[in-house]
Amino acid sequence: MSKGWENWTTEEIAEFQADFLVWYQQEKRNLPWRYNHDPYRIWISEIMLQQTRVDTVIDYFYRFMEEFPTIKALAEAPEDKLLKVWEGLGYYSRARNIQAAAKQIMEEFDGDFPTTVETIRSLKGIGPYTAGAISSIAFEIPEPAIDGNVMRVVSRLFCIEEDIAKASSRGVFDEAMRAIISPTEPGDFNQAMMDLGSSICTPKSPQCESCPIQNYCQAYKENRQTAFPIKSKKQKPKDVYYVAGIIENNQQEFLLQQRPESGLLANLWLFPLEELSETRFKELQSQYAPEAWDLFSSSQVAEDSPEFFSEQAVIWQKKIIGEVKHVFSHLRWHILVFYGRSSTPLTLQGTWVKPNDFPKYVFPKPQQKMLEVFENNRTDDKD
Ligand code: ADE
Repeated sequence: MSKGWENWTTEEIAEFQADFLVWYQQEKRNLPWRYNHDPYRIWISEIMLQQTRVDTVIDYFYRFMEEFPTIKALAEAPEDKLLKVWEGLGYYSRARNIQAAAKQIMEEFDGDFPTTVETIRSLKGIGPYTAGAISSIAFEIPEPAIDGNVMRVVSRLFCIEEDIAKASSRGVFDEAMRAIISPTEPGDFNQAMMDLGSSICTPKSPQCESCPIQNYCQAYKENRQTAFPIKSKKQKPKDVYYVAGIIENNQQEFLLQQRPESGLLANLWLFPLEELSETRFKELQSQYAPEAWDLFSSSQVAEDSPEFFSEQAVIWQKKIIGEVKHVFSHLRWHILVFYGRSSTPLTLQGTWVKPNDFPKYVFPKPQQKMLEVFENNRTDDKD
């Protein structure tokens, strides 16, 4: 494989860096974690920005800094308060790792954010990308920060044929970035790469006419921009099917269940969910009608009906009130949502909660979507 960067002279590299940094100074976006070089702010923003769009992150970032202005405040915060601030952002293990790392900083580094690539890398939840971003942006250490956007830009710049979906390709991108990164302004250089990747050097139709480094781009010269990056197909998320029961008691309280303390959505709260086979889900989805009602009436519960449907004391509404889909990185949840009222105590595990108190519980996105379905349904009923 040719390594285009090895053919660049020292002068060419310096010119490239200068052109790119001038563009960044002119075009850089005004983002709240760019106001200063505080490693704490940069760290939190970089973790939030993994898997989440900049526009979404901005509000979460302000709220987070308001609630936890210092590493100490974060280390000492109750976990449910932290998860509440993270609510809706997804990938909740990121929030738990952030707190574990904050405790590590308090204990091992006397409360001061570590200042070398190796020590930053030793913090929980910090991999090579995040360590590179923090080292370069906060401390001006010339360390690459390579994410999907940067790999796209670099693969085009040098026509790199390695498959970016493979971990073994990392090395070549790391080598290319180390050859071209600005030794004096590595933080701006890395952020220029990120901005170029998200605004100009986009996946499907890159705007090469506006690109500040067009002159240096091998793919542009060969008119092969969209042939890069080379990326093998990811596995599709696996479909999982559920029914959910929104159950209300005589005190207008609703049954919520907390997820186990490890695994997907650990410790977060949802209406009771039961998994079904795809076939059963589709039967209910297409045929659920008053005549199928018997399925969930107290006397005649089908063998594979979810536990909460079999509760004698629940009167189920005779229709599905809605359907919710939610995609995680590896799973796609399909949920049929039912509503029921109960008059006597149930044997189901869970906590009865008044809607006014919902804000005290941490609800993941699928739960927020179910609530929306329920609220829309209620409004409809009143018409
Ligand atoms: N994406 C990841 N890190 C970023 C940053 N520091 N600025 C803008 N977008 C980003």
